[in-house]
Amino acid sequence: MQPEINPWSVQATPDAEKLFTDFGIEPIGPLAHRIHNPPPFIRRGIVVGHRDYGRIVDAIEQKTPFHVLTGFMPSGHPHLGHLMVMKEVVWHVQAGGCGYVAIADREAHAVRQTSWDACRRFGKEYLLCLYALGFEGTTYYQSDNTILKDLAFEAATKVNFSDLSAIYGFSQETGLAHAMSTITQVADILYPQIDGGPAPTVVPVGIDQDPHIRLTRDVAFKLRMFTVEQREGYVSVRSKNAPEGAIEAVSDAFPGSKRYEGHVDIHGTGLGHVQEATRQIERDFGGFGFYSPSSTYHLFMPGLQGGKMSSSVPESSFTFFEQADSVQKKIMNALTGGRMTREEQVRLGGEPDGCPVFQLNRFHMEENDSELSEIRRACLAGELLCGTCKKQTHARVAAFIRDFRERMESVRHIVEEAYGPDTE
Ligand code: TRP
Ligand code: SF4
Repeated sequence: MQPEINPWSVQATPDAEKLFTDFGIEPIGPLAHRIHNPPPFIRRGIVVGHRDYGRIVDAIEQKTPFHVLTGFMPSGHPHLGHLMVMKEVVWHVQAGGCGYVAIADREAHAVRQTSWDACRRFGKEYLLCLYALGFEGTTYYQSDNTILKDLAFEAATKVNFSDLSAIYGFSQETGLAHAMSTITQVADILYPQIDGGPAPTVVPVGIDQDPHIRLTRDVAFKLRMFTVEQREGYVSVRSKNAPEGAIEAVSDAFPGSKRYEGHVDIHGTGLGHVQEATRQIERDFGGFGFYSPSSTYHLFMPGLQGGKMSSSVPESSFTFFEQADSVQKKIMNALTGGRMTREEQVRLGGEPDGCPVFQLNRFHMEENDSELSEIRRACLAGELLCGTCKKQTHARVAAFIRDFRERMESVRHIVEEAYGPDTE
């Protein structure tokens, strides 16, 4: 049986409410209020859920270190469907996060059979987009990164095939490289903490990527030497696989603590302080001291023809490198929430919430909230008709792409310095 959320399936997004109850994803609402100057994807309810994002909001508020990481599979040109994650990463960098982007060429090669050469070229396009949007930080291709591959191997010591089949629905027929690409993604998510030291890490993703997050949180926990828990009146530090010396170091660090076989009870010290001290001791004894990664989940923009946006359905989106007339055609032919006839639309109004053209504006093309609600109001009132609305939307899209391409040219040197010029 296939699990309900599977990163490689082509089904539409499962119902958000169900995800919260069945998988333990928390609704973003209560945290959203704590974010000053919230970006559009928070204000507009595009990011709906999270795991442990409170830590990241704390870090932003308190200006303490945190990482933000995401990955892109370079199996085709970057397109409209990738833009949300890109904006989320850039926003977190601007909010004080240390940025990381993985080009998941191992995954593309294993899962989509993309040649290494094509992975290189597509990967650079993703990087151009990111830098053009204002990204700063570390980028890498999985296949070049030895530290990452070693980390993936270490992570693999904590995962067996029944875990993989429970999480991803893998079967006897699943290729070994596909399985390896999942553990490589686990390593991607933990990599910032190897490269930049342990710190909360946020991974903004679409809901389909949650299985990777769950697996990574499980692995991060299993790779810890200790579990640290608040008990009534004291903090308990239990060894999972800590060397004897490390347990001793914990009890030495807290005079008055009680040391037992395999665990130490600490009175009179707060949980946070004990957590930090044990993390450091773990590192001193050759462990990782990982924070379990945090994540945010955004809804998907519908494809321009309705249904899921996917690179295997070219009419469902456009790339940022596409001919202008082709982009225009796709927008003018998009599905709308309009009525059968003009008369009906004037009388009843359109249905913007289920309209891909409106969603395109909501997700990306109209950053101004009052302009956006004016589009919605005029549509609902039957004052705005689809032909005009599409033309206006196309004008915004064309301006966006023009500007985006110019920015890409102005950052091309960054990508070329790191990964060489394009050979084509
Ligand atoms: N699997 C992701 C995709 O299909 C790409 C990816 C690779 C990724 N490594 C990652 C996403 C780490 C988030 C975090 O697009
Ligand atoms: Fe969609 Fe615009 Fe038509 Fe309303 S007027 S249904 S928003 S295309």
